[in-house]
Amino acid sequence: MTKFPHWQKFLSRFKLGKSEKISFKEEHSESEIKKNIKELLNYVEQQGLYPEIKIIEANEPEAIVNGKRVLLFCSLNYLGLANHPNVKKAAIETIQKYGVGAGGSRFVSGNFELHEILEKKIAEFKKEEAAIIFQTGYVANIGVIPALLNLPKIGPFTFFSKKRVIFSDELNHTSIIDGCKISKAEVVIYRHRDMKDLERKLKKYQNQEKLIITDSVFSMDGDIAPLPQIVQLANTYKAMTMIDEAHATGILGERGGGATDYFHLEGKIDVVMGTFSKAFGCLGGYVAGKEDLIRYLKAANHPSIFSVNLPPSIAAAILAALEEIQKNPDLRKRLWENTEYLKENLQNWDLIL
Ligand SMILES: Cc1ncc(COP(=O)(O)O)c(C=O)c1O
Repeated sequence: MTKFPHWQKFLSRFKLGKSEKISFKEEHSESEIKKNIKELLNYVEQQGLYPEIKIIEANEPEAIVNGKRVLLFCSLNYLGLANHPNVKKAAIETIQKYGVGAGGSRFVSGNFELHEILEKKIAEFKKEEAAIIFQTGYVANIGVIPALLNLPKIGPFTFFSKKRVIFSDELNHTSIIDGCKISKAEVVIYRHRDMKDLERKLKKYQNQEKLIITDSVFSMDGDIAPLPQIVQLANTYKAMTMIDEAHATGILGERGGGATDYFHLEGKIDVVMGTFSKAFGCLGGYVAGKEDLIRYLKAANHPSIFSVNLPPSIAAAILAALEEIQKNPDLRKRLWENTEYLKENLQNWDLIL
């Protein structure tokens, strides 16, 4: 240790001194926030509205909830890949090689090679120039939207001389809504899938910096955004475009490439975001787009800098799931057959769909 005096100095910062006893005044008044939380919780519990989390055993399609065997229809594991032998094997083998966690954020401690391979493969799958992966889809949205609208103040540039305005479909997912809030840009909500309303609102902001953002498949209603019209409007009004392909990736389009595949819009939307938590049966998010944009996002989004990277085992599982999606179109065929079968039979029970 004597060889490294700077180390000694560094470690001495962590030497614990004598513990000091801090005395609290007994009669301190309770904070308003704590009081409000208690009141709200009491009310919600009395009304039976508290969302108790169910404990489930086993994975789908059958699960055991509170000791009862049930069919699980609320899961997002659309293609059953969470349980696919090749996907499980990839994760297990990678845990054996690298352990459980990624150890640090990608910005600080780096990517594993698997992360880099995944980014390349997902860009190819989406037919975009490049991609970046995230810890979850939620994190991708709250990281990327603010990064697009708040460029760091480096160099002799004056960014955003104009006001920044986001045009957001009223049924967009909460992660988009939260990303918009963090960005501090003005948010203009347009009526669900209503292109006349969007155009009316775009016209009002002719001279501002604009970003149009929408789910491609909406998370609650399952309907599809009119992406060709959105791209047209964006071109007319010089707006940037961003879509959330959480529920479309692996499902929509001939290749399962998502709504960009379905509408043949690959390369035409500026920011294409999606998740690996639905059709891929895994965890994680991605954003794909032009090389420059992704290169900027890799250096500028906060979750990549300040939050731990996706575990390498999950990157391996996503790669295995991607391979299954690409080589096995029957997975999607079976999903649509099952959907039709379920709809038909629920209708036979007089349920309104
Ligand atoms: C449209 C949409 N975007 C993003 C997310 C968040 O994805 P994740 O579960 O990967 O965080 C969801 C989750 O349901 C979603 O429906």
